[in-house]
Amino acid sequence: MTRSALCSVFAVVCACGSADGGAGESGSDTTAVDPGDPPYDRLSDWGFFEGALVDQQPAEGVISYTVAAPLWADFAGKGRYMRLPEGGKIGVTEQDEWSFPEGTIFIKTFFFDTDRSDDADAPRIVETRLLIHETTGWESYIYLWDDEQVEATRIKGGADVDLAYVDAEGQPATQLYLVPDQNTCEDCHARDDVARVLGPTTHQLNVDAPADAPGAGNQIDLFSELGLFEVSPGPAADLPAFTPPAGDGDLALRARSYLHGNCAHCHRPGAGGGPSGLSFLYWEDDPAKYGVCKVPAAAGGGAGGNQVDIWPGDPDRSIVPFRMRTTDPEIKMPELPSLLADDFGADLISEWIAGMTEPPCE
Ligand code: HEC
Ligand code: HEC
Repeated sequence: MTRSALCSVFAVVCACGSADGGAGESGSDTTAVDPGDPPYDRLSDWGFFEGALVDQQPAEGVISYTVAAPLWADFAGKGRYMRLPEGGKIGVTEQDEWSFPEGTIFIKTFFFDTDRSDDADAPRIVETRLLIHETTGWESYIYLWDDEQVEATRIKGGADVDLAYVDAEGQPATQLYLVPDQNTCEDCHARDDVARVLGPTTHQLNVDAPADAPGAGNQIDLFSELGLFEVSPGPAADLPAFTPPAGDGDLALRARSYLHGNCAHCHRPGAGGGPSGLSFLYWEDDPAKYGVCKVPAAAGGGAGGNQVDIWPGDPDRSIVPFRMRTTDPEIKMPELPSLLADDFGADLISEWIAGMTEPPCE
């Protein structure tokens, strides 16, 4: 995307040059650096947050939201926000992605507990990712935070970050975390060669809003109240929803919600893992398509000696949990950038498989 094309999306911002926002008319502020045109080099220049950037306090018009079945990312906690352009509205479909007007920005911040033995520790923010709906489609940007937690700077090539933390037993520990390369975003975000937003779907957003949202209660009802939709989809209670994987809902629904949130962006027709024939869409109702007794397209070491993706009643004979538990980058699922296995997710899927009552595979 060229700078001028981006400027046409942000015509208002480009025309007035500096857009720090919210600071008021302070006259001649000689210390301010002209941020130039978007995409800005510094995260603060977007004006997404009020006060100290590290506090991630959404500014007017920036809406904090959450998803029912979040993506595992090596223990990262996440803040999710969206900003619609002036007067812009959301188009809703019941099942899959919603549509957003040009100029919409999605913001996702990744942070880590510095002390995993203490719930009240100060998190360390590592990166903030943006997806911006430009004239060319959804474009990706990454901002890497400084150690002082004052500013984040735009990078393109990814980064290896060594995180020092205190583990759950109170011992010092370190973790390598990979900030992905800007070119790898589409491994997950593109389908049929078109980049997309992944979280904003009816199933994912049909949960309670986070504490820093501009209102309380169910998120879809809140969006209706705020007038964000072209046409309100009606009461959230009448709409489909994922069952939060870490909650206490039905086991199969939690497992299927987890697999959709963590795997279906690749494992569905048209996406990167589509050719394997495995589909983890929540609404896929053919057990053979979501792995039951399915022989993998490409066998070999990646199967752990197992014959099928899911052997009903026997997780130890199933490829799916095997590939979720390994950290061998050639075998592990999901593929990079995450380096670590999600034990919670692998246990959930194993428990679901153990309880399956379909007949054993031939
Ligand atoms: C391993 C797959 C994967 C990769 C790689 C990935 N994302 Fe995502 N991303 C997701 C999923 C799944 C969601 C929705 C679920 C969530 O928010 O937890 C998401 C959500 C987002 C969101 C919030 C809007 C939305 O689409 O829901 C932004 C912004 C984002 N990603 C930016 C990026 C950028 C920029 C990159 C490249 C640096 C990137 N992502 C790489 C899987 C991925
Ligand atoms: C970034 C894209 C991507 C993500 C995310 C991803 N996969 Fe895959 N997956 C692939 C690709 C590509 C293949 C085919 C090549 C191979 O087998 O390694 C594959 C193959 C597989 C296979 C072998 C399937 C067959 O029948 O041939 C299994 C099992 C699997 N993935 C499980 C998972 C699970 C479980 C998740 C989520 C926890 C997941 N994958 C997430 C891309 C992905």
